[in-house]
Amino acid sequence: MYIPQHYRRLKRVPQVIVPKDIGMILAYSGVNRDSVCVDAGAGSGWLAIALARVAKQVYSYDIREDFLEVSEKNRKNEGLDNLTFKKGDVTKKIKENNVDVVTLDMPDSDKAIKNAQKALREGGCIVGYMPHMEQVKKFVETLEKRKFVDVVVMESIVRDMLVREQGMRPSTKGVWHTGYLVFARKQ
Ligand SMILES: C[S@@+](CC[C@H](N)C(=O)[O-])C[C@H]1O[C@@H](n2cnc3c(N)ncnc32)[C@H](O)[C@@H]1O
Repeated sequence: MYIPQHYRRLKRVPQVIVPKDIGMILAYSGVNRDSVCVDAGAGSGWLAIALARVAKQVYSYDIREDFLEVSEKNRKNEGLDNLTFKKGDVTKKIKENNVDVVTLDMPDSDKAIKNAQKALREGGCIVGYMPHMEQVKKFVETLEKRKFVDVVVMESIVRDMLVREQGMRPSTKGVWHTGYLVFARKQ
C-alpha cells in the first residue's frame, strides 16, 4: 500500500489509520475549517493530525502516556497548534461539548458512543473505525438504540496499478483489509 511522504515522516506505534481511510473520514464526516473535533484513541496521532490539517480545533484522547508522547512529537514536527492530545478514557468522559465530529478508533468503541453523543452538537457526525465485523455490528446497534440517523457502513479498497511496457494491470500485491468505517449523525 502506497503511503505518501507526509505520512511516512510521522512516527507510528500502534496500528494507524492509513491515508486511504483518512481520505474517506475527511470526505464523509464533512469536517471543515470551522469544525471542532474529538478523536480517540490518539495512537500515533495519524488521524488526529490529518483532521487538524483541515479543522479549526482537534482534541485527541488516549489512555496510554507512551502513545501520547509519540503523538505529541508528531504534532510538534508538523507544526500544528490547533491539536491538543489529552490523557483520558473516552468511555468514562469526554470533556468537550457542542463539537462537530467525533472519531473513534479503539477497541470497544461502542462503549464510547454515549459520551460521544453528549459531546456532539445536533447534526454532528460520529465516525467509527474498526477491523472486525462483530465490532461494526455492536457499534451500529448502539447507534440505532441511541437514535443516531444516516447510519452507513463502508470499506475502501484501493488497488495500486502497474504501468509497464509489457502491459498495465492491478498489482497482485497489496493490503486487502484495513478497517470498516461507520458514519452516523446525531439528531
Ligand atoms: C489503533 S490505535 C489508534 C490509532 C490512531 N487512530 C492513529 O491513526 O494513529 C487505538 C488506540 O486507542 C487507545 N485506547 C484504547 N481504549 C481507549 C479509551 N477507552 N479511551 C481512549 N483511548 C483508548 C489505545 O491506547 C490505542 O492507542
